[in-house]
Amino acid sequence: MKILYVEDEEALLSLIAMEIEAELDCQVIEIPSGNKAIQWLKKNDCSVLKIIISDNKMPDGSGSVLFQYVKENLPHIPFILTTGSSDATEHLEFQGFSTSNPHNSTMIKPFPLEALTNRLKELLNLPNQPASLPYLRISHSRFRKDENPPCDIYLKLSTDKYIKIFNALDEVSQDFLDKYTGKGVDYFYVLQSSFQGFSKYYDEQINIKLSKALSAEEKMDTQLQGFESIQDYIQNIGLDTNVVKTMNIVTQSSIDVMKNNPDLFHLIESMMRKENYLSEHSIMISYVAGALALEMEWVTTSTLQKLACAALLHDISLGNSSLARMSHEKEEEWEKNLNPEDIEKIKKHPIVMAELIKNTSGIDSDVDSIIFNHHEKADGSGYPRNLDHHKIFPLAAFFIVAETFVNSIYDKKPTPKELNQIISEIEKKFTKGNFKKAAEALRKAFNNPFI
Ligand SMILES: [Fe+2]
Ligand SMILES: [Fe+2]
Repeated sequence: MKILYVEDEEALLSLIAMEIEAELDCQVIEIPSGNKAIQWLKKNDCSVLKIIISDNKMPDGSGSVLFQYVKENLPHIPFILTTGSSDATEHLEFQGFSTSNPHNSTMIKPFPLEALTNRLKELLNLPNQPASLPYLRISHSRFRKDENPPCDIYLKLSTDKYIKIFNALDEVSQDFLDKYTGKGVDYFYVLQSSFQGFSKYYDEQINIKLSKALSAEEKMDTQLQGFESIQDYIQNIGLDTNVVKTMNIVTQSSIDVMKNNPDLFHLIESMMRKENYLSEHSIMISYVAGALALEMEWVTTSTLQKLACAALLHDISLGNSSLARMSHEKEEEWEKNLNPEDIEKIKKHPIVMAELIKNTSGIDSDVDSIIFNHHEKADGSGYPRNLDHHKIFPLAAFFIVAETFVNSIYDKKPTPKELNQIISEIEKKFTKGNFKKAAEALRKAFNNPFI
């Protein structure tokens, strides 16, 4: 059994070929260009050739030139295009890509080697396929009525069993939402090969919706949808410029909604839907931290942007709402309720996200400092570094007070008197330096007829 692998980057070619041969019982023919691949196909017996994998942009004959030859002469051989662009096969030179052979697919670079070997095993229908099939997890609450997701959606039945519950391009109906979302279904799945297209579709939807003159309520709903899109993308692919673009759109919308709705209590009450703690928690913090910053005379647009961006990203690496809730409990509670891996995840989550941000262009460096510090406490009892209030970065102090407040009211619907008490407790707790200023700003932000 042979697999043809066409790639002009020599190091990548031999590394991947080696990995495929190590995983599968086959011979990988390594070829550096599209034209040379065509010559090879013309001269050799192709009856034992099972799959063609090809890069697209190559100086001596591109992936599209090779695809045209394969489409006309060997259409039964599945063609995997490895490309840096998620819409490469929509271009004219790839006409017929998905129809000439239903097994043709793309892999967006960079991709984990395991994803490629899993795809090959799936195509070759090999026995002893590993339990981890090439599906990626997406949040159950991504969907909104009347949207047309561009790919099939699956439900996980067991470790290696998935069933299709939604056909690509169908319209999301109220029945679908009633049946699956918020009804004990935590996650849906899409095929790894469809994830980039799925994300692109939803990011466009979010952008279109937020640029329309929607009501505050609709904008807030779309911000939640945007948060879930960002979360799924970071967990499945990582933090890259695609996700930074969506994040900027969502943070700008959250700042606008916060500025245009001075009744902060009403605003956070509307966001507190009790459907998804992590997304609601993150967006509520962006409103409250922004409102506190607005009370300070030194506030600028970039300060609001940094706080909102930190709010969206700060807990994403925790991956789920229950760990995000537990991250505010004492260490004794972690020992009682969590396994050692989850405890480690909580302890490290400020560091993990700060490091990811440092390696991503387009995010201000203050955002990673806020996130690095967001579980520190004014008295030095926080984590990961037990910093006391002198050493905590000023914007982080505002963020910490905003998050403390959001945690104090989530799950409750406080009366004006109770709200007053919560703020008084925060004023008593935060009496030093920037923390004191932030607690005073909190009092001012709620200083409306409500209290
Ligand atoms: Fe948090
Ligand atoms: Fe956190």
